[in-house]
Amino acid sequence: MYHGDHWPDLRREHRTRRTQKRQRRQRQRDVTKPFGGIVDTVTSSSSTQARVTARERLSVLVTGGAGFLGSHLCEHLIERGHRVICLDNFHTGRAENVRSLTGSGRFDLVEHDIVEPFPKELPHFDHIYNLACPASPQHYQADPVATALICSQGVYNCLRAAEQHGARVFHASTSEIYGDPEIHPQTEGYHGNVNTVGPRSCYDEGKRFAETLVTDFGRRAGLVTRMARIFNTYGPRMQPDDGRVVSNFVVQALLGKDITVYGSGEQTRSFCFVSDLIDGFTRLMSNGDGSLGPVNLGNPIETTVRALAHIIIDIVGSRSKVVYQPLPIDDPRRRRPDIAQARAALGWSPKVELAEGLRHTIRYFDDELRRAPQSQFDAAHSAYRRSGAVAEDLALAAADQGSSYSSRGSRLLDRSLT
Ligand SMILES: NC(=O)c1ccc[n+]([C@@H]2O[C@H](COP(=O)([O-])OP(=O)(O)OC[C@H]3O[C@@H](n4cnc5c(N)ncnc54)[C@H](O)[C@@H]3O)[C@@H](O)[C@H]2O)c1
Repeated sequence: MYHGDHWPDLRREHRTRRTQKRQRRQRQRDVTKPFGGIVDTVTSSSSTQARVTARERLSVLVTGGAGFLGSHLCEHLIERGHRVICLDNFHTGRAENVRSLTGSGRFDLVEHDIVEPFPKELPHFDHIYNLACPASPQHYQADPVATALICSQGVYNCLRAAEQHGARVFHASTSEIYGDPEIHPQTEGYHGNVNTVGPRSCYDEGKRFAETLVTDFGRRAGLVTRMARIFNTYGPRMQPDDGRVVSNFVVQALLGKDITVYGSGEQTRSFCFVSDLIDGFTRLMSNGDGSLGPVNLGNPIETTVRALAHIIIDIVGSRSKVVYQPLPIDDPRRRRPDIAQARAALGWSPKVELAEGLRHTIRYFDDELRRAPQSQFDAAHSAYRRSGAVAEDLALAAADQGSSYSSRGSRLLDRSLT
């Protein structure tokens, strides 16, 4: 942890290390646990794409592969017949998310922090998808300096590794680079309206810098690079306690608790179901030969946050009430991607309707809720209530929960390559 100009409190750091040790032991136990996630046709986009032949098989490195999006990407690549090396420090991801893939004989799980140089003994890879970065405001604001380093040093290490392996690069950028946008919908040509010194800046500015680094490194090193500017995406395997609007509302509705809307609820977001997004990732990565500039990937249908709350209450059949709290600093008022470029260049557009995607997501959380002790979801709920708090409160809360970064070096947790 780093608080302004003060050195970290040593006792807190010691407590944090102890908690991290406990969490690491738990993660190792997770690797041997049976996989509990749902396997569902709509969560898999592979049904529309044929399996590759042995000659076409690629070795693909996915950083952040044990997270929400990363685990769906790994699953998709394995189903298509590729070989996958999943590299993750488990800051927000879980080994359980990729547990089902270890039996494929084509999947490696490596514990590693991308801020550190990549392990030399990594197997050769042809493609790298860089998804490693906490994506929810609660997580990326908990240790903003770590977030800025992931987006800078971490991305640099990915690019260096890609250069050494001669690999094609995919980088997960974000709609947050548009900040609180002055044009609507947002096109790739819009340069954004971002606060450089607000609580969200570590992520927003970090991701902007990462786009620059990927572009310049690509030009200098002759790498083929692809970047997706991802708009809000939801689906199974989101974390119940990560402060993102869909998971928060679903968990609150399932628990029958008040649904907390920040601001008037008139702010809009566009919600893309995870299988549509993963389809966009792989199309973007496999399309043509040269590097491409950033491409918006998201659902262009705009929904107010208040409407989302009511749709979820209706699907769940919940008795939850909607309550309103002040809007957090720098919260964007409108978000909608212009996806003309993705349509034209990739033939891509989202297919899954909001109500359908939400039903799958609700079923996932319902299963999780039945499996988890009630206390865990109560913790998730109170974490959500904190998510509107100022960054300082979040940083202190995170330090108490031991969630700052410490992973040094790397470990192969599961090797199924023969
Ligand atoms: N989900 C969305 O709506 C969304 C929107 C815009 C951009 N993105 C981007 O997509 C990527 C994945 O997002 P997600 O929603 O799956 O988030 P997530 O938090 O579920 O996944 C991030 C993964 O990266 C891992 N990670 C974090 N720091 C790491 C580090 N230093 N070294 C190695 N691994 C590390 C985490 O443990 C986790 O498995 C992120 O880069 C995010 O910025 C996501």
